[in-house]
Amino acid sequence: MSFVTLNEVLADAQKRHYAVGAFNTNNMEIVQAIVEAAEEERAPVILQASQGALKYAGIRYITAMIQAAAQNATVPVVLHLDHGTSFAQAMQCLRHGFSSVMFDGSKYPLAENIALTRQVVEVAHAMGVSVEGELGRIGGTEDDISVEEKDAFFTDPEEAADFVAATEVDALAVAIGTAHGPYKGEPVLDFARLKAIKEKTGAALVLHGASGVPAESIKKAIEIGVCKINIDTELRQAFTRAAKGVLAENPDEIDPRKILGPAKEAMKAVIKEKMRLFGCSGKA
Ligand code: G3H
Ligand code: 13P
Ligand code: ZN
Repeated sequence: MSFVTLNEVLADAQKRHYAVGAFNTNNMEIVQAIVEAAEEERAPVILQASQGALKYAGIRYITAMIQAAAQNATVPVVLHLDHGTSFAQAMQCLRHGFSSVMFDGSKYPLAENIALTRQVVEVAHAMGVSVEGELGRIGGTEDDISVEEKDAFFTDPEEAADFVAATEVDALAVAIGTAHGPYKGEPVLDFARLKAIKEKTGAALVLHGASGVPAESIKKAIEIGVCKINIDTELRQAFTRAAKGVLAENPDEIDPRKILGPAKEAMKAVIKEKMRLFGCSGKA
């Protein structure tokens, strides 16, 4: 099956009030864990490559690995750029066959964010590729975008309405209290703000930094209108915990397959759990 765009999976998610999981991938085991989980759960799925992933594996490997996995998949698969940093990078992804890109202009002033995002939308839409934009700053650290807690600020609903109307993005990432990476305490989400953003924009909303967010908060966010949920940290934790477990039990193990195989399975179990929580299991 060839890749589908965000619109193809998020339209049904919005109609039937569930969210599609967007999982970050960096290597073959992670690609397999995500696609196998999606097949077993009969769930539409988004595989996304971050700046770090593109640096680590290179765009050719990322696309080739995900293409190989999607070829035999019977569920809808989106190949998405996560936190894209420039027009040039978005164009590179289009050329390599991504079906969707995020342009993260959240570090720019509103007018500049709108202008830069709009540039990407014009070309991407002409090529049949969907675009996610970001407004407001999501806390935590990402490669090339470092956001100090004090700089992080939430999405303004009025600005969000202007942003969506002017850019015509297909999905909007919002800052409502989540952060990338592990949380120190329990994250507190601003649901009133989320509701206002949904009412004013009508847009498909994206929750970043969803690892470590309690199940009840995830469910409430979906009820209000979040239909794409990004998960990376919890996958890394499961993978590394399992690999460490193998080595702790058998310190002489030298076969990478015996270390990475269980790590992949542990990651797959977390992905399946998230798909059930997001309500996308059984929707493909
Ligand atoms: O958005 C952040 C993701 O967790 C990706 O992080 O650039 O280290 O791959 P990364
Ligand atoms: P976490 O690593 O906190 O799950 O966030 C993932 C994310 O938002 C990727 O864009
Ligand atoms: Zn993110």
